[in-house]
Amino acid sequence: MIDELNQFEKEALGKLAGLNDSASLQAWKSEAFGKQSLLSTALTALGTLPKDERPLVGKRTNEIKQALTKAFDEKEAALRAAELEHSLRAEALDVTLPGRPARRGRLHIATQTLRQICAIWADMGFQVYRSREVESDEYNFELLNIPKHHPARDMQDTFYTTLPDVILRTHTSPGQIHAMREFCPHPIRVVLPGMVYRYEQITTRSEIQFDQIEGLAVGKGIRMTDLKGTLTDFARRMFGASVRTRFRADHFPFTEPSAEMDVECFVCGGKGCSVCKRSGWLEILGCGMVHPAVLKNGGYDPKTYSGFAFGMGPERIAMLKYKIEDIRYFWGNDLRFLEQF
Ligand code: PHE
Repeated sequence: MIDELNQFEKEALGKLAGLNDSASLQAWKSEAFGKQSLLSTALTALGTLPKDERPLVGKRTNEIKQALTKAFDEKEAALRAAELEHSLRAEALDVTLPGRPARRGRLHIATQTLRQICAIWADMGFQVYRSREVESDEYNFELLNIPKHHPARDMQDTFYTTLPDVILRTHTSPGQIHAMREFCPHPIRVVLPGMVYRYEQITTRSEIQFDQIEGLAVGKGIRMTDLKGTLTDFARRMFGASVRTRFRADHFPFTEPSAEMDVECFVCGGKGCSVCKRSGWLEILGCGMVHPAVLKNGGYDPKTYSGFAFGMGPERIAMLKYKIEDIRYFWGNDLRFLEQF
């Protein structure tokens, strides 16, 4: 029996040494340790053996079992390492190859300009006040001193809805009324950024949607000189400390007096070029002292309070700054345009 066991061990170890894949390794395992294997049959036969042989055979069987288990574990580990090595080699990655970059988004050029303008006003003590894009006729026109049939309405062709008096705002100025009614009787210094809508013929200079930034200051003793000084300061921060500005008289129903502000053309330095249409000046905003009727509509007594307001278009300003010749690029969703900024 001992000889048989020794023979069995020798053969099993010999066979194991020649294996080189995990499938045949598993087959070897069930053959060596399974019910039919000599290791099992030797143990069941133990009772039939002469008494003095029993401990010897039992001991030898256990030794062989241990030896085979150890050999199996070593072989299995070696095979696993070899297989890993093989697959690493077969599926080798060249980590030095350049990756495929993820497409990165960015802020729209209008948003960038809007934020830059808001940041300048924030430095000057104006906080951002958000106001709705869907407005009533009352807020967009009436309370801003633009009654029905007033010719100024023709300048702002309007998107009306099927609901009576519900419209898309044509400018950010209705936000003035919202801000005044919220803050009255306290002093106000706010800017109101956001999208506005006009039912217009789309051309290189006009769109049906664009951003505006409104500004509003209300308090005691605010004068036209405050308006001019503040807006001139803004222009210097936006376009450079040496930029020259000028105010031209204009008309808006909700300001009195009203003006438009121009900055010296930064393309030609005021000499005259195609961007400024040979005038040397670029128009950047409308402004004026808040009309007494508008102050009253906001809840402020115009005898005690005064204020100034202004409105500008960041797309127009970006067009000037980056020499973009067509406003339709802004909302045309063409990446070739958007990715330039
Ligand atoms: N709301 C005016 C426009 O859209 C701009 C403006 C705002 C003018 C505030 C004066 C004061 O043209």
